[in-house]
Amino acid sequence: MQYYRLFQGLLTFILASSVYSCAPSGDGDGVFVFGNDGPAPAATLGYAINHFGLTTTNLENMKHFYGNILGMRLLFDAHVTPEYSVTYLGYAQGGRNGTGFQTGPELAAAKNNLYGLIELVQFNVSSDHLHASTQRSNTFSHIGLIVPDIVKAQAYLEEHNVPIIKRYETPVTGFTGPLQNAFGIGEYAGKHTAAKEALIKAQSLIGLEMLLMVEDPDGNMVEIQQQDPPTSSTL
Ligand SMILES: *[C@@H]1O[C@H](CO)[C@@H](O)[C@H](O)[C@H]1NC(C)=O
Ligand SMILES: *[C@@H]1O[C@H](CO)[C@@H](O)[C@H](O)[C@H]1NC(C)=O
Repeated sequence: MQYYRLFQGLLTFILASSVYSCAPSGDGDGVFVFGNDGPAPAATLGYAINHFGLTTTNLENMKHFYGNILGMRLLFDAHVTPEYSVTYLGYAQGGRNGTGFQTGPELAAAKNNLYGLIELVQFNVSSDHLHASTQRSNTFSHIGLIVPDIVKAQAYLEEHNVPIIKRYETPVTGFTGPLQNAFGIGEYAGKHTAAKEALIKAQSLIGLEMLLMVEDPDGNMVEIQQQDPPTSSTL
């Protein structure tokens, strides 16, 4: 669908437009409304999103998933107290195809110049029961990954027994389940049947069918999208 291609090709579109020294024209197409913010406040020059933090009481399994399976590298574990630790993981950013290998100390040294890191904080004696967004809608929705080949990624994750919430090229159906919870449209959102049905019908506008959704060991949803729009797709 053209909307889906627009979504996927947005960056290409903007880059192509800039070749002709003009900004994307118009307000979008009614679904995608382009931002028209002017320049950011001068005081924010150099600001960047470096990491996001997940609370866990399941650190070893989380490190196994993000590290051994998804391929993020350990920057460090900081043992702040015997019970409290802070762990940083992230992709080596010297090259995504593996030739840009960086050691843990090298990554740690570059930490404040890296983007997309995950910080896992664990209070290992906590009496709390932490609710993942797939189990109970909350303010955290999902982590978004880009992969070069989503079909290969799906096969790879299945081989490693990663729970798949939604397969590639499968539309979302129904109003309950882990994906619905993580998107805030599940049972905790209330009945609202007509509004939910409208959303299910509209899902191809954002290419939801084409996304692969899996769960990490704590039940956080990981959304996986292919870098370039799939060419052989039915959409
Ligand atoms: C928390 O970590 C400390 C130090 O490693 C360990 O002695 C303790 O058994 C751990 N507690 C739990 C509940 O895992
Ligand atoms: C791997 O990444 C490096 C660094 O970005 C690049 O120079 C090289 O051409 C890439 N190799 C392949 C096979 O894509």
